[in-house]
Amino acid sequence: MTADTVTADAEQQAHFDDLIAADSRVEPRDWMPEAYRKTLIRQISQHAHSEIIGMQPEGNWITRAPSLKRKAILLAKVQDEAGHGLYLYSAAQTLGITRDEMTHQLIDGKAKYSSIFNYPTPTWADMGAIGWLVDGAAICNQVPLCRASYGPYGRAMVRICKEESFHQRQGFEILLTLMQGTDAQRAMAQDAVDRWYWPSLMMFGPPDDASPNSARSTAWKIKRFSNDELRQRFLGMLVPQAEALGVTLPDPELHWDEDAQRWRMTEIDWSEFHEILAGRGPMNAVRLQNRRDAHEDGAWVREAAAEYARKQAATAENREAA
Ligand SMILES: [Fe+2]
Ligand SMILES: [Fe+2]
Repeated sequence: MTADTVTADAEQQAHFDDLIAADSRVEPRDWMPEAYRKTLIRQISQHAHSEIIGMQPEGNWITRAPSLKRKAILLAKVQDEAGHGLYLYSAAQTLGITRDEMTHQLIDGKAKYSSIFNYPTPTWADMGAIGWLVDGAAICNQVPLCRASYGPYGRAMVRICKEESFHQRQGFEILLTLMQGTDAQRAMAQDAVDRWYWPSLMMFGPPDDASPNSARSTAWKIKRFSNDELRQRFLGMLVPQAEALGVTLPDPELHWDEDAQRWRMTEIDWSEFHEILAGRGPMNAVRLQNRRDAHEDGAWVREAAAEYARKQAATAENREAA
């Protein structure tokens, strides 16, 4: 390395540090440290995969929604999740990874996606509990990401968050309707809340003292709040809403500690989280197999689109030559 390149690197690093310090945005054309680029590619692509895999648990109920109105709403919601996946894949592509590479990382089982989508959806009330708890936790996680230092990621999150808040309300409304129904409907709603409550709390990731990469992401202003802070916010949102619904959150220890100004709760069973993360959750294999099948079934569409693009380009070339 010559003295010149050392100076140039130092200058670029200083420029990057200034952008971060000033709460400005880093854009695709800007120089950035390799570790920052890699962290973002990992985070944004995992986020995109989660949106795409996340279509499956709810897609399971589209044909069985209890009314035309419910079907239309659920269809729109699942379609939104596809859109979220696409904005996020596009944001990740600006960092120098291709869509194809990301797809293969997912279907080859090398990429992670949110563990929450490896649980089954046996009843209609699961659509309510997912909207209320899973999309609710997603909002708590994602609102601060609208200010993430990487421009394309932050901007994608703005639109995603608007749609997520609609998802949360539609879930709440499904549960509210069930809670105002028969005893059997109330029991079904409570059962779904019991099953989704703990997994939704796990969505914020391990406790702060066991989250080694958090400090660096916070320094880079990708992450704005710690996992435990976000979990606390989520509980603050859930407790009054659970009361309004008339459902019981399945933790007898849960209470507000006035002195400490925080929610106290039973310790989360992290062994379950790690089992699912390791691919041994109830639906891991099914979710990945469905994604693989969808990719293979779509091969003819990709081929036809590529062929069409090739013909269009050839026609344009011929026209130019003439
Ligand atoms: Fe989403
Ligand atoms: Fe959503």
